Amino acid sequence: MIIAVDGPTASGKGTIAKALARYFGLPHLDTGLLYRAVGRQVELAGGDPDAPSDALAAADFDDSLLDEPELRSEAVGGLASRVSIHPAVREALFARQRAFATQAGGAVLDGRDIGTVIAPDAQVKLYVTASVEARAQRRYAEMRDSGRAVTLEEILDNLERRDARDSARKDAPLTIAPEALVIDTTSLGKDDAIAAALDMVNTVTGQQ
Ligand code: DC
Repeated sequence: MIIAVDGPTASGKGTIAKALARYFGLPHLDTGLLYRAVGRQVELAGGDPDAPSDALAAADFDDSLLDEPELRSEAVGGLASRVSIHPAVREALFARQRAFATQAGGAVLDGRDIGTVIAPDAQVKLYVTASVEARAQRRYAEMRDSGRAVTLEEILDNLERRDARDSARKDAPLTIAPEALVIDTTSLGKDDAIAAALDMVNTVTGQQ
């Protein structure tokens, strides 16, 4: 079984994807981390994230980068969004994501284009969303707890810019797959959001 979980930044898609993976005993891939690693690698190499050739060269990053805490920062999220515009970068990361999705036994992947491009054949497609204010509040609390100095205004501004860029790009934009079930987590706590997702998966797979 392939479970695709798409949605914008800080919507709760990662939390939901991880919980579903644990529940069903499936491996999980946070595909945003791959784009974050490319963004971080461009930065380390002193390249320009908006230049397709610099971004493509960075797609050949060392996997040890995936463990860097810095990858979770707002700054690297912004770089990831910029490098993810380039079709060559998306193509370079495709095979790895597709192989993960189609491994024997199934998998859970979260990102922006899992249900539309990486695994259009996924049995379950969820689209997790929330108001931009709710998402900014969550990201702000996360950053504050991890000791990063940011203001709520900065976060809100970043999220709006990132949403616009991720949705407007030509190649694999953030969009709701036609068969996707939508979970709006604006007024849901973590446990309720996970329970709602689990219900949806069980309904789709007919295991209830
Ligand atoms: O989910 P995230 O915030 O870690 O993603 C960082 C950026 O990576 C996001 O702004 C756009 C890009 N991304 C993408 O283009 N496709 C994906 N499947 C996942 C992330």
